[in-house]
Amino acid sequence: MYHRVALFLFVFCSVNCISPNTLADEKPSTETSASLEDINKGKEIYKKSNCAFCHGWSGNGRGHPRSPGVASNLRLSQLDREAMKHIIRCGVPGGAMPYHDRMAYRDKRCGIEPGSIKKTDLPTKGKSIQAREWDALLDYIIALRADGTPDLEQCEAFFKPGSLNCQYLKK
Ligand code: HEC
Repeated sequence: MYHRVALFLFVFCSVNCISPNTLADEKPSTETSASLEDINKGKEIYKKSNCAFCHGWSGNGRGHPRSPGVASNLRLSQLDREAMKHIIRCGVPGGAMPYHDRMAYRDKRCGIEPGSIKKTDLPTKGKSIQAREWDALLDYIIALRADGTPDLEQCEAFFKPGSLNCQYLKK
């Protein structure tokens, strides 16, 4: 899967790519200069942070059928790096996306005065992501955008060769 990623690593997108007018089926921005090592590190952070429970192993938004909310298809995300980081750190108030910065609602870092958000709107707490882990995680989910349709090879690279989780992709 990674030769395809590598191919796209140097494709920088113009502002048009993230304009709201972009057609839904157009390839979004893949602005990254990440190394394969960073991307693989990011994959491990994605796994251990439970992102796949809701977003699916491939990030296509089809996680566990009983996961809460309708998780976004990260492979088609139009968000830039900073916007992604913000939503992962802070979650979505009133939505199912959890926050992953343990201080998110203890101070104003998410733009919300502590205590001013309704308890029922407070996102749930996800696994904490450490400062040194952010870059690799963002590299990984941005690289997914250039990764085409999830296939058996990608699935087995995510789990392991022969994994039952990938059975459904076998012809
Ligand atoms: C409990 C389910 C759940 C978990 C776990 C979860 N997400 Fe989400 N995520 C969602 C939902 C639902 C949305 C849609 C948010 C909305 O619009 O309300 C979302 C949205 C996002 C978005 C915004 C995408 C876009 O284009 O709008 C990003 C990025 C994201 N999640 C990344 C992650 C990452 C990375 C992890 C793991 C660290 C993660 N999520 C864990 C449910 C989840």
